Amino acid sequence: VYDDPIDASAAVAQEIAGLIRENDSKGGKCVLGLATGSTPTKVYAELVRLHREEGLSFKNVITFNLDEYYPITPDSLQSYVRFMNEHLFDHIDIPAANIHIPDGTLPAEEVAAYCVEYENKIASYGGLDLQILGIGRTGHIGFNEPGSTITSKTRLITLDHVTKVDAASDFFGEENVPRKAITMGVGTIMEARRIILMAWGEGKASIIKRAVEGEPSHEVPATFLQNHPNVLAVLDTAAGDELV
Ligand code: F6R
Repeated sequence: VYDDPIDASAAVAQEIAGLIRENDSKGGKCVLGLATGSTPTKVYAELVRLHREEGLSFKNVITFNLDEYYPITPDSLQSYVRFMNEHLFDHIDIPAANIHIPDGTLPAEEVAAYCVEYENKIASYGGLDLQILGIGRTGHIGFNEPGSTITSKTRLITLDHVTKVDAASDFFGEENVPRKAITMGVGTIMEARRIILMAWGEGKASIIKRAVEGEPSHEVPATFLQNHPNVLAVLDTAAGDELV
């Protein structure tokens, strides 16, 4: 628990940078699972700073984003492709071919096969070294809403009403929020070798309490993280306020 999200985000960015450098020194690739939303923006800003000022290179980094709205075009204001470009990819030296974000433009009949392919791609790089996560007020990780099982894989899901309310301002009204999204599953996330869950602010305090101290249940998918052998919750004091 950190006093503020800036210090907390810098610590997370340092861990990511350490992992990238460690893989570089071994001549290997670093496979990162990335999140969008307001939570990781300061982590990305710090990674950009480390690239510009300290020469951190992303040439050997492979990324897989957790999720994307469906349907959505990459140039939409709210697309996660656009988000990632603006916050991170446009400012670092990662090769475009190394970036993977679920495709929100596919015809419906192609989505299921695409999701299997997304899983296979992650596996082809040897799995995720590190997955970073935010948490939704429903307890979702990625867009694994309540009801998602611990073994779920990348798939098309229907967004929870609460999640659509939370996204409404980005879309200029709840009626404009896509009904669906493609998300990595809880099982996909659980296979990462290391997971960092981040949350800032009092609005996340009650769901963090349930995620960290509640019985593992599909009613709060983030509780499944309790079963992961190498998971860290990084919070600010406000988000950690209800923890015993
Ligand atoms: C985003 C994602 C979501 C968000 C969560 C919190 O890729 O997978 O689970 O992490 O909805 O969103 P913010 O950070 O905006 O509070």
